[in-house]
Amino acid sequence: MNVEVKTGNYRNDAILLGFSDLSRLKTERPLVFERGKGIFIFDENGKDYIESVSCFYCVSLGFSEERLVEAATRQLKALPMYSSAIHRTVPAVMELTERLAALSPVKHPRIYFSTTGSEANDHLIKFMWYGNGFAGEPERRKIVSRKASYHGSTIATAALGGSQELHESFGIPMGFSLQVSHPSWPNAALPGETEEQFTDRLAAELEQVIVAAGPETVGAMIAEPVSVSSGMFPPPASYFPKITGVLRKYGIQLFIDEVVTGFGRSGRMWATEAMGLEPDCLTCAKGISGAYMPIAGIVMGEEFNRRLDLGNAAKGWFAHGATHHAHAVSAAVAVEVLNIFEERDVLGHVRRMMPYWNRMLDGLLDHPLVVGNRKWGLTGAVEVAYPDEGRAGAAGSLKVGGVTKDVYEAGLLEGVIVRPLAGCFVMAPPLIITEAEIAELGRRLRAALDRVLASRPSS
Ligand SMILES: Cc1ncc(COP(=O)(O)O)c(C=O)c1O
Repeated sequence: MNVEVKTGNYRNDAILLGFSDLSRLKTERPLVFERGKGIFIFDENGKDYIESVSCFYCVSLGFSEERLVEAATRQLKALPMYSSAIHRTVPAVMELTERLAALSPVKHPRIYFSTTGSEANDHLIKFMWYGNGFAGEPERRKIVSRKASYHGSTIATAALGGSQELHESFGIPMGFSLQVSHPSWPNAALPGETEEQFTDRLAAELEQVIVAAGPETVGAMIAEPVSVSSGMFPPPASYFPKITGVLRKYGIQLFIDEVVTGFGRSGRMWATEAMGLEPDCLTCAKGISGAYMPIAGIVMGEEFNRRLDLGNAAKGWFAHGATHHAHAVSAAVAVEVLNIFEERDVLGHVRRMMPYWNRMLDGLLDHPLVVGNRKWGLTGAVEVAYPDEGRAGAAGSLKVGGVTKDVYEAGLLEGVIVRPLAGCFVMAPPLIITEAEIAELGRRLRAALDRVLASRPSS
């Protein structure tokens, strides 16, 4: 894409940027990006960076996929917008629904498209409250989530997020959220605890929380298959079967949040497939359109739909909708993403790149600042610590300081963007990354780590 972008000398004291220090915005220009090419982005000074996190784990086909631009342009020219509501829709939404249903790990699904991952999870909760009300279980409103998880920024989904900073100062949660421990194996294990004992303990904790809340008041548990935002801890194989067993015992549904993990991150279309999960409902976003246009999917299973139909039968309609849901241009782009996945065997490419990815991550283990790593699909977490400081625990936090912040900033100087979390930085590069680009990423990461080490001569 050869486009001219003009960077103006705009004021930045009036911008509110998310997850940012507002006082810094009053005095300091934020990092401004103008262009992208493949896995690289370029700032306003022309400096290139490898986006090792695909922005927010979303730009799965890179920053310059012409076919997605063309698909958007075709739809913009034909019909730029028409709301999918009031028994009206557009062909792109119908095609996307049919193709996603065929790929869905949820059997006989019904699919609703919202705009963001947050909205998808939020609406799923709203729909559950609706369905349970008409199915004679109006009290089944509570949702279990895991500490340190991330499910979105709306009032309801922030409540499910496990990081205290996301809700405490906003006066959230509002009484419907129950939280249990995150399966951060092995960091969260008790001394001497085996994997089986660890997952037994977490399943027992889940059951205690459900029983204490009153099982008849709990509607669902929501979980990411692997939570990248909380530090990317792939759970032990026995975790989900045990958790699911507890949920089934009390008639509680399992909602799987595939907002990050869906669309190829694991080397399969869904982490749900890769990990053999059996969700009642699933949400997806981000990679569904390569993040070129905002769109998210709520994929609902049979029992869930039966309940929605009860409500519809009682009221004569489903009283929910929004202007930009199932946006025509977003849907057209998402259909093109599926075409590209098929034609270019994107999943096969991810699986072929995984050994190089793992080798690159392991190659950093000899660095004095690196104390461990975690690998899953085309995703990785690198644990870092200053030699004179202890290794951080397992708790995830989106607000970081110390060594991971230093690595992030050194990364910017070396031309690589990572996502710093407490005790580690995570990466989830565009799925199109090549062997040579993985090697270049490894080189830039090592240079950033060296730079941090050199800036602390006492270490
Ligand atoms: C697992 C998960 N769920 C939901 C969301 C929210 O998605 P969005 O930012 O599109 O609202 C995110 C965002 O990072 C996420 O990581």
